[in-house]
Amino acid sequence: MIKVIKVKNYDEVSDKAFEIMHDLVVSKPNAVLGLATGSSPVGLYQRMIKDHQENGTSYKDVITFNLDEYVGLEKSHPESYYLFMHRNLFDGLDVKEENIHIPSSEGDLTANCDSYNQALSQYQIDLQILGIGSNGHIGFNEPGTSFDSVTHIVDLKESTIKDNARFFDDDISKVPTKAITMGISNVMAAKQILLVASGANKANAIQATVMGVVTENVPASILQEHPNVIIIIDEAAGSSLVKEKK
Ligand code: F6R
Repeated sequence: MIKVIKVKNYDEVSDKAFEIMHDLVVSKPNAVLGLATGSSPVGLYQRMIKDHQENGTSYKDVITFNLDEYVGLEKSHPESYYLFMHRNLFDGLDVKEENIHIPSSEGDLTANCDSYNQALSQYQIDLQILGIGSNGHIGFNEPGTSFDSVTHIVDLKESTIKDNARFFDDDISKVPTKAITMGISNVMAAKQILLVASGANKANAIQATVMGVVTENVPASILQEHPNVIIIIDEAAGSSLVKEKK
């Protein structure tokens, strides 16, 4: 079941997402968190860091699993998701490095997928944070990915490469074409899922996710079949939902 919370702007999306995250970590200090990269969760992460620094909310017993990582960028590349997560979240919190899991795209990729699935199978994610691609992807599960998928290697779609070029000097030739991602069934195994989206370029994907048919062509549409999903959107990302109701 999807509960949609529509707020005014990105700041309010981040405030609301932080409330949910904070309640969880306070009530369950050893919570297992599924985390996303990209622009959408950055406001949430900033609020987590501010609250940790000002109010002492601790993440020392929290376990984290990230959704994905580019293939072809070393960990030390500024746009690797490994560094993104450290820069935007982990360096500002007291999460223990050994409790952080990010899929590795270095070395044997098949073995890395297997070991990530193995690690995920030891836990249940309490709260999975998601962004959404303009094409409806979650993690890097692009349109057409099986709903039964587990951690795997993907070829990024042209639309995703274009969307992410903004992180690579707007040069699509610098954007990796492959990634390692948690599969859709790994995401669906979470107890609760919190998807955040803002901006008009997400409006069609949000409309298809919330009101469309459940189809592998819109990976996020599977969320309709999860028992506990909250989608927080701003006015622009929710603009097609409004149009539909009129
Ligand atoms: C990131 C991820 C992606 C992004 C999505 C939206 O770990 O898995 O699904 O959440 O591409 O990206 P932004 O938030 O940059 O618009």
